[in-house]
Amino acid sequence: LFAGQTDFVKGVVAMDGLPPADRLEVCFAGRSNVGKSSLINALTGRKGLARASNTPGRTQEINFFTAGDLYVVDLPGYGFANAPVAVVAKWQALLKSYLQGRPTLRRVFVLIDARHGAKAVDEEIMTLLDRSAVTFQAVMTKTDKVKGDALDAAMAATRTALARHPAAYPELILTSSEKGEGIETLRAVIATIEA
Ligand code: GTP
Ligand code: MG
Repeated sequence: LFAGQTDFVKGVVAMDGLPPADRLEVCFAGRSNVGKSSLINALTGRKGLARASNTPGRTQEINFFTAGDLYVVDLPGYGFANAPVAVVAKWQALLKSYLQGRPTLRRVFVLIDARHGAKAVDEEIMTLLDRSAVTFQAVMTKTDKVKGDALDAAMAATRTALARHPAAYPELILTSSEKGEGIETLRAVIATIEA
């Protein structure tokens, strides 16, 4: 899958800037700092491809990459409180328009921090995806930061949340971009979409 070229295409700040919907697409959504950009880097094996940072709100545009025959899309985080209200509102609006209005969007990976489980903002996005009939799959991130019991609790809570959403895949993928856990699994899932 990612054996072919991976390349940055463009960063988009408004719906009219989206590249032509001429190929299938998957995207990575989730709260600020959950590890979206890091996961894309781990998947593509290119550390600096998507810009990751400890500062929540790092990704401020909808970033399009090509990977094999797909677009892979890195989204700005939602639920980010430390930016001016007007800026947050603009991001949220763009994010929602994109998630609801992209005909080639085959799957949204909703990233959930393994330490925290699904939060109200995650549920909000899942509901929006249900309404738009966009299939999504939950991916737990940063599993290296959490121990057995806490991980089990976060997984159980997330599964309960997923069960309420008709657009959700029931399987939960566990990942650590840091340790490489789940990266092959996720690549395999994406390969089925590309095929
Ligand atoms: P925004 O673009 O701000 O929405 O954030 P993001 O979701 O793209 O998160 P990003 O990939 O920038 O990662 C945020 C921070 O978490 C960085 O400091 C990463 O190094 C760290 N991080 C990401 N994935 C992992 C992981 O699997 N394990 C650990 N320990 N840290 C991680
Ligand atoms: Mg990012």
